[in-house]
Amino acid sequence: MSKANNSKSAGFFERAKKVLPGGVSRNTLLRGQHPLYVSHGKGCNVIDVDNVQRLDFANNMASHIHGHAFEPIVEAVSKQLQRGSAFTMATEAELLFAEHMCSRSPAFDKIRFVNSGTEAVMAGMKAARAHTGRSKIAKVEGSYHGAYDYAEVSQAPTPENWGGIDHPNAVPLAWGTPEGVLDDMIIIPFNDPEKAVALLEEHADQIACVLIDPIPHRIGMVPVTAEFVQALRKWTTDNGALLMFDEVITFRSEVGGMQERFDIAPDLTSMGKMIGGGFPVGALAGRDEVMDVFVNGRLPHSGTFSANPITMTAGRVAMEMFDADAVARLNKLGEYVRSSLLEVIKIADAPACVTGTGSLFRIHLKAEAPKNYREAHPSDTEKKALSALIDALYDNGIMMIHTGAMALSTPMWHDEIDQLSEALLKSLGSIKHLLGTTK
Ligand SMILES: Cc1ncc(COP(=O)(O)O)c(C=O)c1O
Repeated sequence: MSKANNSKSAGFFERAKKVLPGGVSRNTLLRGQHPLYVSHGKGCNVIDVDNVQRLDFANNMASHIHGHAFEPIVEAVSKQLQRGSAFTMATEAELLFAEHMCSRSPAFDKIRFVNSGTEAVMAGMKAARAHTGRSKIAKVEGSYHGAYDYAEVSQAPTPENWGGIDHPNAVPLAWGTPEGVLDDMIIIPFNDPEKAVALLEEHADQIACVLIDPIPHRIGMVPVTAEFVQALRKWTTDNGALLMFDEVITFRSEVGGMQERFDIAPDLTSMGKMIGGGFPVGALAGRDEVMDVFVNGRLPHSGTFSANPITMTAGRVAMEMFDADAVARLNKLGEYVRSSLLEVIKIADAPACVTGTGSLFRIHLKAEAPKNYREAHPSDTEKKALSALIDALYDNGIMMIHTGAMALSTPMWHDEIDQLSEALLKSLGSIKHLLGTTK
């Protein structure tokens, strides 16, 4: 990646290291010698402070569904800014957005807004505990759900500590995670209904909820199977536990999120990212009876900036304009991107594959698509090669997420996909020598 030591980005990073731990406010920006600093973005392009333009398939970690500086959002938010940004009062902006969101899924009787996906998942886990009076939560090995202590468990286990697949260990992410947190987490393997149900059975009367991300990006961005979802829905219903979908990223997949593709309704759904129209957001939606915990005394809950009218306005405009036609077009473009990239991989004769569904996709430097976290876990060779591939793509005008994941936005059309394909062909060529041992 063009990271000359005399670049403006390098200079900013030298200053940043003196005042920010590691020079950043989010570890995901730490790659290579220094992060790139942005000047501005417009549509699906981002221009850095050294005046290099790139096509943005990272979209602030899959959060911009309409790209950058989307005119209708800029206009609506500018008007709201003139009238104030946050009040100790309820707003019509919040009401309008809540009405819109509840109209998108039959599983959303009520919705509560917060400020991040982390907060939405945390509120969901606490709501499940408050509703059921139980403390244990089951989650899928390797799935990412944000920074709440419980959500972080087994987010990044390694072969050294993940244990047997019939009984995956609950592995802490952060040093000092209390033992009690680990004791309350049940780790289940992805897309393996038989093993998952057997594990849940061991703690049947203690489980408050089973949490799943329907397209877990850290596991490999392979969608959940209907069989897995149905088994978890049935088990939770039969055993007095709740089923929670984490749709912080995947809500973009259909008008009503990935849950729309299965003939089941989760009890709770966490959302975030794109529903904020570019501003910090999180939301928890669900069944009336469960959402009641926020007001019946079981789970007192507030947040100073929750449902502020800036986010509510931006979010409503973004979501109203991401209607059924826009969702369908972007999903179709997703099919085009996946088939184009597979074609490129074939031409490059590289041990690589593409996973994903709808407008989300991920490149793996593995010949076969991984089926679970353990298969998705990259070898040292793959890690090094992927890092080099991402650098090469940056040099060829493409920005992607550090895991190899990418997300489409509505300003993108076939042209942008063709640019990505061309860049991938060049980039694979330049890093192929690193992949010798993975074939
Ligand atoms: C599935 C999922 N849940 C929760 C989160 C946390 O969201 P936030 O970064 O807004 O706290 C993320 C973030 O990437 C996510 O992908």
